Amino acid sequence: MTPPNAASAPSPAAVAPDPGPRTCAVSDRARSVFPDGRLTAADTRPFPVVMARGDKDRIFDADGIEYLDFHLSSGALALGHGHPRVMDAVRRQVDKGFNFGAMNTSAVALAEGIVAAVPSIECVKFTNSGTEATLHAIRMARAYTGRDLIVRFEGAYHGHLDMVSLSNKLAGLGPQDAHEMPGLRPIPDCAGIPDAITDLCLVAQFNNAARLDEIFSAHRDRIAAVIMEPLQRFIEPQPGFLEAVREIAKRHGALLIFDEIVTGFRLSPSGAQGRYGVAPDLTVMGKIIGAGFPNGAIGGPDTIMRDLFGPSARVPVYLAGTFAGHPVASAGGAATLSVLSEPGVYEQLETLTDRLRTGVRDAFARAGVPGHILCPGPMFHIHIGANVPQNAREALTGDGAFRKRLWDALLRRQIHLTGGRGFVSLQHTEATIDAFVERFDEALHEVGHAS
Ligand SMILES: Cc1ncc(COP(=O)(O)O)c(C=O)c1O
Repeated sequence: MTPPNAASAPSPAAVAPDPGPRTCAVSDRARSVFPDGRLTAADTRPFPVVMARGDKDRIFDADGIEYLDFHLSSGALALGHGHPRVMDAVRRQVDKGFNFGAMNTSAVALAEGIVAAVPSIECVKFTNSGTEATLHAIRMARAYTGRDLIVRFEGAYHGHLDMVSLSNKLAGLGPQDAHEMPGLRPIPDCAGIPDAITDLCLVAQFNNAARLDEIFSAHRDRIAAVIMEPLQRFIEPQPGFLEAVREIAKRHGALLIFDEIVTGFRLSPSGAQGRYGVAPDLTVMGKIIGAGFPNGAIGGPDTIMRDLFGPSARVPVYLAGTFAGHPVASAGGAATLSVLSEPGVYEQLETLTDRLRTGVRDAFARAGVPGHILCPGPMFHIHIGANVPQNAREALTGDGAFRKRLWDALLRRQIHLTGGRGFVSLQHTEATIDAFVERFDEALHEVGHAS
């Protein structure tokens, strides 16, 4: 097991650090070359933030201001920044060559690591991102079943392209809709998604197996797959829910696809499926398997994978990509999986994150603010509100303005998070966790008193 790092204690946070001159200068340049001044849709901050360097559990902006990193590249850095074993593997691969556009040792090592860890996966195909992997999984399910319709869950995120950019944001829906059944037809998440695409998707509600059963009964023999995050964003499956989805999909001859892009190699060595004990037909992975480099994968049993890609495939499916199986991403990913496979690693991550969970719960109690810290394992989501949401509409409830002020107050205290969502890496220390809790406590008091 990798010993906890012996990094220095976090520097004290300077509340409301003014962005320094370098950050302001780069941010001005960004505004002139990016139409919205942002890198991606997730890049929304109350003041300019330009990151320049990462080290273990910290990142530093262009002026050298230190942030405690609980964002970890949207969860891609399971081991934190610059883990020595990952650095070594990546450097050695870079020295040998960046990309060959051919079978390579690093890609095979990463595939072997995935197959060894996840019992439902006997072979894999690589893509360049999580979005590509979910789209390919959908194509594969359609080819395998000869059907076109896909069922997804309201509020789940499966990427940013047409077939999956549906009913994630729930635009226009309010908390008052919380107990209404969702419509069968998805809501496109942005302009530019044709009706022909939305016509092929049906929307179910997380933790509502009866509704899923109705959808399958209404579209008998037309549904190719149900795709889901087994732990949807931050909403845990109720006991029996995943088992029910598994049974319904099987009964109707559809494939069950688990999107484990966040949960894979995080909630257990075999992801959410290992933690909850329900195996899908196809698994989609990303983030951790690239160690911070772009990567994605679809895995499943031989019976499905070789039926689609094998030398005598029954229904051949096309999957290509200049960078698929990229040696540098694969080398980093394989080294990450090797570290994660050591005894005691998941226990260490869980213990550290439990310390954070306890601290946040105590802070809520002290401040008298109704709130919860959700998610198991080395991930967390801070939810403001009295109830624990069981589906995406219930999560819409609460004071959005309060939440935003709280996230802003945390960023001003040099905590790097996305909304209330964070991850803990193997290089986080108790000192960093305690600094998080202290700053959360301060932020909660500041914002709680202001509301
Ligand atoms: C659950 C889930 N699926 C799919 C994706 C898309 O992956 P990528 O951003 O690599 O395209 C993400 C990204 O955050 C995700 O969280």
